[in-house]
Amino acid sequence: MKRRKSAREFDKYAYYRKAVQSPEMDCEFISDTYKELRGTRPRVLREDFCGTFAICCEWVRSHKDNKAIGIDLDPEPLNYGRQNYLTELKPVQQARLKTYQASVLTAQVPKVDVIAALNFSFYLFKSRLMLRHYFKQALRGLKGKGLLIVDCFGGPSCMEAQEDKTKIGGFLYFWEQKNFNPITHEALFHIHFKRKGEAKREKVFTYDWRMWSIAEIREIMMEAGFTRTHCYWEGTKRNGDGNGEFKRAEDGEECDAWVSYVVGEA
Ligand SMILES: C[S@@+](CC[C@H](N)C(=O)[O-])C[C@H]1O[C@@H](n2cnc3c(N)ncnc32)[C@H](O)[C@@H]1O
Repeated sequence: MKRRKSAREFDKYAYYRKAVQSPEMDCEFISDTYKELRGTRPRVLREDFCGTFAICCEWVRSHKDNKAIGIDLDPEPLNYGRQNYLTELKPVQQARLKTYQASVLTAQVPKVDVIAALNFSFYLFKSRLMLRHYFKQALRGLKGKGLLIVDCFGGPSCMEAQEDKTKIGGFLYFWEQKNFNPITHEALFHIHFKRKGEAKREKVFTYDWRMWSIAEIREIMMEAGFTRTHCYWEGTKRNGDGNGEFKRAEDGEECDAWVSYVVGEA
């Protein structure tokens, strides 16, 4: 049952959603990319590292034939999603969505058209061996024409300690990069929030990652058995900022910080 929250109660997943998630845009990108590469719309989505499974919820909401599977190790975000997002769906939509508290490395779930692993979650695999193992497991989970879609980020500004501050409707969102190790390409990140009139809430989320390059991700996908890979690179507005439109590219423009998608074809 959904619990009514007092106005000042701090709901970390609600702030996370406003600050970093965009399930509608994610679902549009997933569906359009599959259509571009396979000629039809995908119907069965698996969201790896799904957390509160916001993408699964949007997926089943967006089309009557869509089905979704979410996988995450941690019961806390899964329960949050069940209490806060699943309850927003109609029963017929809920019936097309299933979540598993399991590791993406071992979960036994039905095969799907697309696996999406977003918000850079696979950066938690720090060795080539582990990343290849994950990509192999993902490939096993795909139907014959399936796609694996991951996002990634980088650029010179992600190779040093720094903190970005963004104002979002009544609160501040901080993305802090604590360090960068040029030898291992490991980096530690924190998300902080600050509400008006309150102290900054430090380290609400923490990520201990390896910064993978697009070239490495594509090579490792091929080593894992994918037949082809693509990079979807973001277009640029007149002022030099990203325009939110990602197109297949082999030649990227140098920029200080970038976000991109890599797609592996089964
Ligand atoms: C960066 S969060 C991303 C959550 C969600 N994808 C999003 O976009 O907000 C990473 C998630 O991966 C989960 N996780 C870490 N290792 C995992 C594994 N081996 N299998 C499944 N989930 C895992 C964590 O519990 C966490 O919820």
